Parts: sequence; structure tokens; C-alpha cells
Amino acid sequence: LPIRASSYKDELVQTAKSIASPGRGILAIDESNATCGKRLASIGLDNTEVNRQAYRQLLLTTPGLGEYISGAILFEETLYQSTTDGKKFVDCLHDENIVPGIKVDKGLVPLPGSNNESWCQGLDGLASRSAEYYKQGARFAKWRTVVSIPCGPSALAVREAAWGLARYAAISQDNGLVPIVEPEILLDGDHGIERTLEVAERVWAEVFYYLAENNVVFEGILLKPSMVTPGAEHKEKACPETIAKYTLTMLKRRVPPAVPGIMFLSGGQSEVEATLNLNAMNQCPNPWHVSFSYARALQNTVLKTWQGRPENVEAAQKALLVRAKANSLAQLGKYSA
Ligand code: 13P
Repeated sequence: LPIRASSYKDELVQTAKSIASPGRGILAIDESNATCGKRLASIGLDNTEVNRQAYRQLLLTTPGLGEYISGAILFEETLYQSTTDGKKFVDCLHDENIVPGIKVDKGLVPLPGSNNESWCQGLDGLASRSAEYYKQGARFAKWRTVVSIPCGPSALAVREAAWGLARYAAISQDNGLVPIVEPEILLDGDHGIERTLEVAERVWAEVFYYLAENNVVFEGILLKPSMVTPGAEHKEKACPETIAKYTLTMLKRRVPPAVPGIMFLSGGQSEVEATLNLNAMNQCPNPWHVSFSYARALQNTVLKTWQGRPENVEAAQKALLVRAKANSLAQLGKYSA
């Protein structure tokens, strides 16, 4: 049988379950060097390996982080780095019972023949890279592709996104990594929430079709969807209850309960918005573990507090714990602002 009965099956299910544990979610710090450079520039720092290491060390050595965080997604450079005292970052995570993860896609490039849309590279050599990441301690992976509503999205772009995610998911599982499946539907545009729901349903229908066709084990994946919201330039904002209602409608129509964890991205929402929206979803009964995998919504205040100064590290780590705890409560549906 061509099933992914790889020796990793039980381990994958176990890894996914431990990432999707109650009251915890994912800290996404897998910004590529270019994106990390933009974050560092916002506080006046140069984009050097030393500065990237210092910033990631601040995040990954936050005392008590594992109470709220179950997984951390790293960029390749970070997976191989250590603290200035010589402790591997991977070991810092193990000590907090946080599963190390790795961004494995190679980024977005224009998709010829489409409506100015993009596709995600990284399948070539992915199996051998994944095996190396596993050896280094990674147990889950992330592949982010995007779909643009103002650009269409074209049938071609949606199919390419879905197929790429499914091939990546199968390759990850074959190599012991739980794949996070992330077709980000960008917030850009002035469309209303109904239109976002329609596009999200289309995208997830194709993603699950190809995941099944590639014999991916659903119990050993995690999803990273965008919340269903109006476009960023839409005339009216939606309240958390409306966002929760639309997002859960999308999940109920498209996502089998076999999937152990749904870890939302923040996608440019403010820190508090991202927490309130997650909380609202968890106040409605649902069959999944609905949680977070935030980058900006966990890091914005941390960066501002740090400013690149050693004397601010402790305060910045406290700021991280404040956001992590708030989202932990939101995962349990118990957050109040
Ligand atoms: P944001 O939470 O900043 O959208 O980033 C999450 C992420 O990792 C996108 O891939």
C-alpha cells in the first residue's frame, strides 16, 4: 500500500498531540533573514547574524515559556544556533517541554501564467533537508504559501498552493516531521467577510483533496489558517464574535475532526485583536484544539521593549510572557481584556 505507514506514524501523532495540548500554542519566530532584518530595522538594529542570534536568544530563553508555548518554529539559521553560553537553542526548548519546529519552504516567487499571483518554492531536496532537520532536533515543519483575494484568486494559483502543501506534507511525514499546513489567505483588499469565507472554503477544499490524494495522515498534521475576516481595507471592521462565527463555519464545513490542532496565524492583526478573536472562537463549542501560531502578535511589544539593549532583556521576556499567557487563556476561552 502506498500509505505513509512510515516508521514515524505513531511518533507524528504523538508530536502533533503534544503541540496541541490545552492552554498552549506555537511561538512563530521563523522569519527569514530578510524579514528578520525588517523587524530589527524597526528598532534601529543592523541585520547581522549576531543581532539575529541575540534576539532569538532573548525569546527562546524566556523562563517559564513552556507553560504557554508548546512549539517554536525556527528559521534554519536559528535551528543550528546556541546561546552565547554555548547551550543549543534546541536544548533550551527541550528544557521547557517546547517542541522545536523548522520553516522548510524557500519562499514565494511569481507564478507565471497567473493574475500576478505567487507560488511557494522548496520541494526540490526537501526529503534530505527534512531528514537533516530531524537529526538536529526538529519534530515539526512549516510551509507557508499565500493566496490573494484581490488578485482573483485564480484556479491555477489555488491548485498550485494546495498541491505544493500536500506534497510537502507527505514528504515531512516520511521524515518524522509533523507538517503545519499553511495556505495564508492575505488580509489585503477591500472585500467583505462573505468573500473571504467563500475563498477560504475553496482553498481548504482543494488542500484536503490533495492531502488525501497524497496519503497524508490527518492525525499527524497541524493547520495554520487565516481567520475569516473582512479585507484590511474594507469599510467596516468585524467584531470578535463575527470573526469567530465565520471562521468556525469555514472549519466545520471543511476540516475533518481527525486533525489534532488548528493553530491560527495573526496575519497583521494587533496583539489584542488576535487574542480576542482566538478567545471568541474558544467560547463556542468545536471539535478541535483551536489555538495560535503567532509571530507578530506575540513579538511586537517584545521588540519595542528590547530595543537591542541587554538591560531590557528581562522586561522584553516579561512582555513575551504577558502575550503568551493571554493567548493561553484565549485557547481555553477564558481571556478577558
Ligand atoms: P503572523 O502571526 O505574524 O501572521 O506570522 C505567522 C506566521 O508564521 C506566518 O507564516
